[in-house]
Amino acid sequence: MRPGRPPVVDPARLPRAVTVYEVGPRDGLQNEASALPTAVKRAFVEDLAAAGLRWVEATSFVHPRWVPQLADAAELLAGLARAPDARYPVLVPNEKGLDRALAAGVDAVAVFAAATDGFSQRNQNAPVAEVMAGLRPVVERARAAGLWVRGYLSVCWGCPVDGAVAPAQVAALARDLVGLGVDAVSLGDTVGVATPGGVERVLDAVAVHAAPERLALHMHDTRGAALANCFAGLLWGVTTFDASAGGLGGCPYAPGASGNLDTCDLVHLLDGLGVATGVDVEAVRRAATRLVPYLGRPLPGRYSRAGAFRPAPG
Ligand code: HMG
Ligand code: MG
Repeated sequence: MRPGRPPVVDPARLPRAVTVYEVGPRDGLQNEASALPTAVKRAFVEDLAAAGLRWVEATSFVHPRWVPQLADAAELLAGLARAPDARYPVLVPNEKGLDRALAAGVDAVAVFAAATDGFSQRNQNAPVAEVMAGLRPVVERARAAGLWVRGYLSVCWGCPVDGAVAPAQVAALARDLVGLGVDAVSLGDTVGVATPGGVERVLDAVAVHAAPERLALHMHDTRGAALANCFAGLLWGVTTFDASAGGLGGCPYAPGASGNLDTCDLVHLLDGLGVATGVDVEAVRRAATRLVPYLGRPLPGRYSRAGAFRPAPG
């Protein structure tokens, strides 16, 4: 510390613990060129929970023609060995998806909408207002069935179709999601364009409608700023961060959105800051590494490629 200056990284400004919400089996695998065998995906979910992750988004009940990689969602869940203290939300786009998820016995779902009409049309085949109207019965029925419900909002920092997105626009839609009755809102940087100042501006705008403890940051690492954005969010007061083991994934309807933030990169940062996650970074890396023979490419995440720091003796 330079004399007379307060520390830049001040432990007093950091939370003691945060939640890492794992999206690799859903957001990661939905974007892989080929579908992995169901048993491999199921083992991946189980390995991630065994690594200490308490929230593992396991799969998706979107239209199987739109995302064939996850068409085996029900089969995956049927044989899943569940850790008693972990939750396994699934993505649902509409009532049809909710019906399928309920039939599969889920206890948590994630619905999604976009901050722009351009992206909404591409990802959900309808403008934002229509998607939001369609989500009302989904959230109502999910809550009536006792499910925990997350609401994702995509392209909060920029849209590949419509361009810049105003924080006020994000805030209004986050307010609408909260109004539907979701338990939590995850703000997505779907194409990885955010930088820390913009993260703060969006969080400030959204906080008028949603308490910080109900917010999550879902940063894609497409342009390398995801960790910096999470650090800004951490200082701001966010306590849930989405990440994808190995850095797998993206959104198939957002060109160039490859590169979710690697769970290992995030946990490495949090470990270094002394912020508890309960997650064993090396166990997450091993879980992701087991997929490599099926992916046909190395893991994109940086920690996942480099591994733990083990200085050579002498
Ligand atoms: P659509 O074609 O407009 O659907 O797709 P529809 O409502 O017109 O229905 C057409 C047919 O599909 C009907 O069957 C429905 O029953 C059936 P028919 O009567 O013709 O026999 N159908 C379904 N079947 C199975 N499961 C369903 C389902 N829904 C309808 N759930 C739809 C609209 C929303 C379904 C489609 O566009 C879709 O599935 N989109 C999902 C795309 C996707 O998964 N994108 C990636 C996830 S979002 C993401 O990654 C972003 C995120 O990570 C956050 C971030 O990064 O920002 C969450
Ligand atoms: Mg995503």
